[in-house]
Amino acid sequence: MSANITVSDLSVSFRSARGYVPVVHGISFSIRPGETLALVGESGSGKSVTSMAIMKLLAPAPMTRIEGRAVVTDNQGNPVDLVALDEKQLRHIRGNRIAMIFQEPLTSLNPVHTVGDQIAEAIRFHERLSKAEARRRALSLLEQVGIPEPAKRLDTYPHELSGGMRQRVMIAIALAMEPDILIADEPTTALDVTVQAQILGLLRDLQRKKGMAILFITHNFGVVAEIADRVMVMYAGRIVEEGSVLHVLSSPRMPYTRGLLASVPRLEHAGLGQAELGTIPGYVPDPAAPPAGCAFHPRCAHNKPGICDVEPPELVEVRAGHQLRCSRWQELCLEGGVR
Ligand SMILES: Nc1ncnc2c1ncn2[C@@H]1O[C@H](COP(=O)(O)OP(=O)(O)O)[C@@H](O)[C@H]1O
Ligand SMILES: [Mg+2]
Repeated sequence: MSANITVSDLSVSFRSARGYVPVVHGISFSIRPGETLALVGESGSGKSVTSMAIMKLLAPAPMTRIEGRAVVTDNQGNPVDLVALDEKQLRHIRGNRIAMIFQEPLTSLNPVHTVGDQIAEAIRFHERLSKAEARRRALSLLEQVGIPEPAKRLDTYPHELSGGMRQRVMIAIALAMEPDILIADEPTTALDVTVQAQILGLLRDLQRKKGMAILFITHNFGVVAEIADRVMVMYAGRIVEEGSVLHVLSSPRMPYTRGLLASVPRLEHAGLGQAELGTIPGYVPDPAAPPAGCAFHPRCAHNKPGICDVEPPELVEVRAGHQLRCSRWQELCLEGGVR
């Protein structure tokens, strides 16, 4: 089985003492079977909230208000809108069709079951296997995610492991589910470069075999270049640039994307490495008090008063499949400010 996911006009607001605060503003994207879409942006831009909303893992209404659709369509063409499902239907879909690797693994591992049992359970959820066979498969997965002495680790509990080991266990559980759709929220951030490369390789293999669609959230442009087909840049809860990895990394047009890429040394662009997001002066705006106009204008070197601080820019297509949100992009291209 394989499936694609189409998110349309997804918005998320959190209730506060002074009313609902919008954190994600009408974002849309889709991912085909076998495709990896990377989601990048500074801390606080709404990446985790987006993925948690799709998985329906946020506090229910009225604490949280979710609008829009997240439709998973299997290869027989049957669509299911995750946003509209109840908890029972969701449990089935989550274990089966769509899995998530969290930024913080401790909260999502079960403290009272051994690592081996949790992986074996994930395998047996979608495949009829004997306990012994599932255990053998769990052992092999622990080995594949780079856990030393995997046979010993099978019988340990999550709290007995270090943060990096727990992260690998999380990844093993998600892979054991063999989901159609995988959402990975900064899954390799805590891991060293060698293990990271190993896990990216593992994800790619599984993707090739199963046609898995992946939403990959990361801070690392090296990882984007290595694993993704397309990339989406998020700022203050909006997609501000989206396109193929080639287009966006080699000719970013939205000033925010350019800022993120600016301090990444050229060699790292080309040859990957540990290319972290660059730092841009200033801060991501408080969702409760967003600036008027373009949310990025207070930090933007190309800010033009009367334009950028007035109208919020629409997402426009600048060439096939490459979209961005900037009122001045044409001018900036003419000025040579943007390649
Ligand atoms: N449960 C919550 N209640 C209220 N605000 C939240 C909650 N979770 C996240 N936020 C806010 O939503 C914004 C986006 O957060 P998040 O999605 O975690 O960012 P990212 O993953 O891109 O670093 C932040 O301003 C954060 O403070
Ligand atoms: Mg996050």
